[in-house]
Amino acid sequence: MTENAADKANTQAMTVVVTGASGRAGSRVARAASAAGLTVREASRARGFDWEDPTTWAETLRDADAAYLMYPSDIGAPAAAEGIDALAREAVGLGVRRLVLLSARGEDQALPAEEALRSSGAHWTVVRAAWFAQNLSEGPLVEGMVHGELVFPAGEVTEPFIDVRDIADVVTAVLTSGDGYAGRTLELTGPRLLSWREAVAEISAATGSTITYTPVPTRAYGEALAGFGVPPEEVELLVDVFETLMDGRNAHVTDGVREVLGRAPRDFTDFAREAAAAGAWKG
Ligand SMILES: NC(=O)c1ccc[n+]([C@@H]2O[C@H](COP(=O)([O-])OP(=O)(O)OC[C@H]3O[C@@H](n4cnc5c(N)ncnc54)[C@H](OP(=O)(O)O)[C@@H]3O)[C@@H](O)[C@H]2O)c1
Repeated sequence: MTENAADKANTQAMTVVVTGASGRAGSRVARAASAAGLTVREASRARGFDWEDPTTWAETLRDADAAYLMYPSDIGAPAAAEGIDALAREAVGLGVRRLVLLSARGEDQALPAEEALRSSGAHWTVVRAAWFAQNLSEGPLVEGMVHGELVFPAGEVTEPFIDVRDIADVVTAVLTSGDGYAGRTLELTGPRLLSWREAVAEISAATGSTITYTPVPTRAYGEALAGFGVPPEEVELLVDVFETLMDGRNAHVTDGVREVLGRAPRDFTDFAREAAAAGAWKG
């Protein structure tokens, strides 16, 4: 067997657990890993895996080779470090040695969860991602945009939005690289900085309809979320995280995507055009 054929056979024999497989990033990880020949075991509550119920973990992890871990709803949540610690140790104990954790760039609140992974005994890789472009096309921010306005506490700060498909491609490359990225913390961003105002203007141009951006103070945004029934502890976390992330610390690009994939990250304009064509902001 040639070396390439052997690599391919090894990859095809590999089973990867994908948590958050029904979500923005996990669904793309599942797709990309499957396209690369891995056997994907999707993990979400509908499939019997619950982060809040450790008795559901072993069933999902048993006989797998690797896992992509995301923690809902935010890697900076107070319970995340304990959850990652317990699950990663259980995974290692079951022989699932290669673990890739989705973390958030610049988010101090995420550091304990990253540390929990590093000390688990796994062959770990942390993928710290910038803000997802798809936050603007999937999830709670879309409704306002469908009605012509994004209200958000990002001021005029700039951010290198990343297309989640690039995260998925990087995670897949990490999973299929042997231990090539073990012990590494990769920072992934899109190719250029945009303010939220500029990002919304790009979407507006792609849809052909007017969508405006209205910056609001973080605390007022939190109060509005509470008014919509978001639980107080979640509001506190979001306010805390937004205040951290919107202070300009993330206003620079990295070459993480190019380092792993050997190509530039997808551009926001292409994301906006494709999502508009798919009807993301049609209501
Ligand atoms: N959004 C960003 O810009 C950004 C940037 C960097 C990092 N991150 C990190 O990315 C993660 C979120 O990823 P995402 O946006 O891809 O997810 P998402 O679209 O918000 O989807 C959430 C996923 O979590 C699953 N889930 C929720 N509660 C669960 C539970 N108790 N047990 C098992 N699964 C559960 C959901 O599945 P079911 O509901 O089907 O069970 C769903 O698949 C967070 O940790 C966040 O900190 C986000």
